[in-house]
Amino acid sequence: MHKPPTKAIFPVAGLGTRFLPATKSIPKEMITLIDRPLIQYAVDEARAAGITEFIFVTARGKSALEDYFDYAPALEADLQKRDKPDLLRAVQNTTLQSGAIAYIRQNRARGLGHAVWCARHLIGNEPFAVILPDDIITGAEPCLQAMVEAYQHSGGSMVATMSVPPAQVSSYGIVDLANPAERIAPVRDLVEKPAVAAAPSNIAVIGRYILPPAVFGALERLAASARGGEIELTNAIAMQLRQGGKVFGYRFKGQRFDCGSKVGYVKATLHMALTTPDMREEIRSALAALLDQPLRGEGAPKDGL
Ligand code: G1P
Repeated sequence: MHKPPTKAIFPVAGLGTRFLPATKSIPKEMITLIDRPLIQYAVDEARAAGITEFIFVTARGKSALEDYFDYAPALEADLQKRDKPDLLRAVQNTTLQSGAIAYIRQNRARGLGHAVWCARHLIGNEPFAVILPDDIITGAEPCLQAMVEAYQHSGGSMVATMSVPPAQVSSYGIVDLANPAERIAPVRDLVEKPAVAAAPSNIAVIGRYILPPAVFGALERLAASARGGEIELTNAIAMQLRQGGKVFGYRFKGQRFDCGSKVGYVKATLHMALTTPDMREEIRSALAALLDQPLRGEGAPKDGL
């Protein structure tokens, strides 16, 4: 059995351009799905997988993330005084203990591989997880937890995978799997954002990874040839594969929402609302009424909606 990872890297340095102007003053990871920011879903998934050390690769303008996970004694005392045990529990659940969380700056936007490399000294010589908070994955079994269980048997590197429509292939890392029908399949090759005609398949890498520390060596070799350009994590994993390392694709159970896009974010919000018992019926009937309305600009909305 391979030792499960206890550390996770959360790359959160991105500008969130697609959510401007909101992201002018709030980190995109603080945008909420119902009542929890995206980053909380990522941290909760990591905790469910047994992660105890959380490493955020941040940038200028991301201090709201640090405040969010800090102990808030005045707020907790107030909720206690006002006898709000549920809210108090929700707030307490956001506190990560000192020493369990670390923030490190990525001072240049040089890609996902570079962001991961920035955390190399905090990881040391052990396997680790990477979670991209834009990718929200829902389902009975949290994605990273299932991957950690599989990894304990397989070792090597592991990436979460799902099929995407051909038109989206060029937006993802794409894998060539030895046995695509299996839930856990050896990766024969992987390539970052290929043109659809050159892609080995339509199976994409989704933002959950378990990686060995040797990937930092591959990232360093890529950095040497990148001449200041972007460094892709996918290419570092592909490099390890070529050097004889094992890489597995894990086809996760559940639904994935790309909250880096507006449409994906709205879909995720609707999914959360429709799967929350005390919201479901009201949102369903509101949606039905809204669907009866003309499109924006095509006519006046009905009164009261
Ligand atoms: C990143 C990775 C890509 C992966 C994707 C998953 O791309 O580089 O390999 O498929 O996340 O969401 P990005 O979405 O940052 O462009």
